[in-house]
Amino acid sequence: MQTLAELPTPSVLVDRARLDANVRGMQAICDQHGVELRPHIKTHKMVEVARRQLAAGARGLTCAKIGEAEAMLPSGVRSLFIAHSLVDPNQAPRLAALAERLDDLRVAVTSEPHADALERLAQNVGRRLNVMMAVDTGLGREGVRDDATALRLASRLARSSRLELRGFYCHEGFFYGLAPDQYDLRIATMLDRLCSLRDRIDPSLALWPGCSVSARRVAAIGAGRIQAVRPGAYPFGDLSLTRTTGVMPKEALALHVLATVVDKPESGLALIDAGSKTFSSDRTPDGIHALPADGRDFAVVRLNEEHGYVRGPATDSLEIGERLLLVPAHVCTVINLTDRVVVTEAGQPVDTWTVEGRGKTQ
Ligand SMILES: Cc1ncc(COP(=O)(O)O)c(C=O)c1O
Repeated sequence: MQTLAELPTPSVLVDRARLDANVRGMQAICDQHGVELRPHIKTHKMVEVARRQLAAGARGLTCAKIGEAEAMLPSGVRSLFIAHSLVDPNQAPRLAALAERLDDLRVAVTSEPHADALERLAQNVGRRLNVMMAVDTGLGREGVRDDATALRLASRLARSSRLELRGFYCHEGFFYGLAPDQYDLRIATMLDRLCSLRDRIDPSLALWPGCSVSARRVAAIGAGRIQAVRPGAYPFGDLSLTRTTGVMPKEALALHVLATVVDKPESGLALIDAGSKTFSSDRTPDGIHALPADGRDFAVVRLNEEHGYVRGPATDSLEIGERLLLVPAHVCTVINLTDRVVVTEAGQPVDTWTVEGRGKTQ
């Protein structure tokens, strides 16, 4: 195994001890409140990480796409939820094959028009599909907007011989934009609404909210009323969780990008060998693509495909050839750009893991 100094850059590094601590920490909170953990694998896309989540006690996994679900099968997962509006009847054979290999496969039903398309897909699958109804709790993406629509959709599903309503899910991604002192109130309001909707339709149905910003508090406030949480980013963390929302301490960050300073073309500017093909174009609301893990006062503030622009008071102290450990703004899109990650222990490489779900967007 190469040492850290010998690794080619840019490389994506995963700190195994921190990853395991994050996986166990979220599981412990869920266990404490009697809530199942069904993590979204979109963040890590790796069988190795899914295995760790399941070994720690996760009840099942959540995926966005059929390809991600297929990629996670070697983890030994038996219960899987595809949280996306599937519509293509040509994908029926893949869904049928997935269902064969699982004890419990669930898919999303996200609106009344979507239910019509899903019904056609289910007809081609040739078996009854368990569905979770999406409820929009503030993100404004998929999901029923009001109770009347949810009640109509539920009665439509009750008449269907191919779709069976098993519960409700939401993704409270808008929490990334809320002030932390609003979290508890917004969670309480959201859970009251979800529970009242569920109880009007069938109190035995499951409620599965999902987001790393809110998951711990949702599990605590929703204990006894919700059945699962589905956070994604918590095993690694990123600037969204440490800097934008502050729900994760910096010391828990388990994924970094190792990059090299390759030029200092003018005072106050250094260039690194990692650009948007490593970090993606995502950035924090204050325009930062990445920050140094050691807290020095500079930031990656602009990207071209293979260049990162580093600016800030400490920039001139950087040396050409110096290696930087950087925390990305958004970890999920970083993982989707790399074939493998380098696993480290006490800061030194000990293994490499393949990103099996990389690019599995179909
Ligand atoms: C449907 C759904 N569930 C869960 C998650 C996980 O959210 P987070 O990455 O904030 O933990 C996402 C993230 O985009 C999502 O789209």
